[in-house]
Amino acid sequence: MDLDLLFFGRFSHNYHIKWNQHPVLVITAQPNQKLRALKAGAEDFISKPFEMAEVLVRVHNMLKIRLLNKELHSYNDVLEQRVRERTADLKEGYQETIFTMTRAAEHKDEDTGAHVQRISYYSRVLSEALGMDEEFIENIFFASPMHDIGKIGVPDHVLLKPSNFAPNEWEVMQEHAAMGAKILGNSKSPYLKMGAEIALNHHERWDGSGYPNGKKGEDIPISARIMCICDIYDALRSKRPYKPAFDHEKTVEIIINGDSRTQPEHFDPLILEAFKLNHQMFCDIFDEYEA
Ligand SMILES: [Fe+2]
Ligand SMILES: [Fe+2]
Repeated sequence: MDLDLLFFGRFSHNYHIKWNQHPVLVITAQPNQKLRALKAGAEDFISKPFEMAEVLVRVHNMLKIRLLNKELHSYNDVLEQRVRERTADLKEGYQETIFTMTRAAEHKDEDTGAHVQRISYYSRVLSEALGMDEEFIENIFFASPMHDIGKIGVPDHVLLKPSNFAPNEWEVMQEHAAMGAKILGNSKSPYLKMGAEIALNHHERWDGSGYPNGKKGEDIPISARIMCICDIYDALRSKRPYKPAFDHEKTVEIIINGDSRTQPEHFDPLILEAFKLNHQMFCDIFDEYEA
């Protein structure tokens, strides 16, 4: 029943009228009970003695309001559902765009196929260990594969050079950071926004020895500080023109204690700590997504 009719002769002040959200019409002969009835949740009241015609009109009106309210609620539910569906479509669209752009960058640099996939998982492991919120974790998962997208703009004779770079070539190579930020910049997508931030800063180092801007410590966005250790872990595990692929143990040893290229001072100490506690998961990810 959509409408409850209550007839109160004596209206207890402890009584709260909430009958399954149905509207309540109070009919009373006691004027001092009217206010109390309304305060307790009644929607309307009629004084005794009453005309049946008036009661019917009031009941009719309350039912009409009730019906309109119900319609409004179900319309709101439909709208909310549509917004949820549209948001999911939009997210999917962004994610597809990211995979397409990342594939375009990989096309130039054959080594990075499985690398970018692993980077997503490593950065999620560290972000979770650091207690980052869900939104950040989702963003870094989709943003981190784009870190080297700026390599699209690096000429092949530099990008694919098997030996060490000449100083001018090294300068060109370093430009991929700013180039990536430029490609991904000015987007409304949180994935692309974080992607631009990571692209620009993923070669910065905690001690200020990185590039392109020599940023130090917390001036480097946390997304890029997380990314930095993930990228180096994966580079150490992979074969490069200047080095063989190292196993997990040797890689962890280099990250924690340093070698001629990598120093523990390059990393945010908190993130390094999170890596020390979770490095086995890095090994599992590398094994699972090995090229
Ligand atoms: Fe890079
Ligand atoms: Fe990388």
